[in-house]
Amino acid sequence: MLDRQLERSFPDISAIRDPNIRELCHAQWRYVSAHGDPSHTDIEKLPIHPSLPVARYGALASHVRGQMEISKVLVPFAKREWKVELDLDHFLACALVHDSAKVIEFVGKDGELVATPGFDHAAEGAKIALTVGFPKEVAHMIAVHTYLGPRRLPRTAAAQLFQFLDPICLPVFPEGGKGAVERHLEANGWSVPPAPPAVA
Ligand SMILES: [Fe+2]
Ligand SMILES: [Fe+2]
Repeated sequence: MLDRQLERSFPDISAIRDPNIRELCHAQWRYVSAHGDPSHTDIEKLPIHPSLPVARYGALASHVRGQMEISKVLVPFAKREWKVELDLDHFLACALVHDSAKVIEFVGKDGELVATPGFDHAAEGAKIALTVGFPKEVAHMIAVHTYLGPRRLPRTAAAQLFQFLDPICLPVFPEGGKGAVERHLEANGWSVPPAPPAVA
């Protein structure tokens, strides 16, 4: 069901040149729709996390649109300035499916959406990607997209750049409490170092 909403929510899907890769994006969303919580019927209502209300932080779809838009700038930039060849199809597809396992992770409980404890949506998303037939390069990008320091080391330029693209497209800023960097440190059990003395 959610897979039928991809074209409407993500017009940049038409920029994926390989029709097979485009079809695999649909296949991955079909898979999570079939295996996920049936309460997820509208892709624009799926949050980035149950603790981040859509009204304030935007939907997961907005996070994905940001990654697709920046990828369209980043990939030609890397080629022009660094002579680094990245596959735009892989970036766009990875953006589209990297968080799709959240459809399985986020479940309705007592009328509220909650995250399943211990569910690793990056690892699950990568497993599903391989199951539906994505190339292993894309599965690796998905597997390491969440920054977990030494536990999730990217092995390719594409995976490294996509890992940084993930928090860029997260509108969680220090002005509103804990910013994305602080949240990542906490999620990894790393203490936040004391701030350096203020400069007068
Ligand atoms: Fe994620
Ligand atoms: Fe993400």
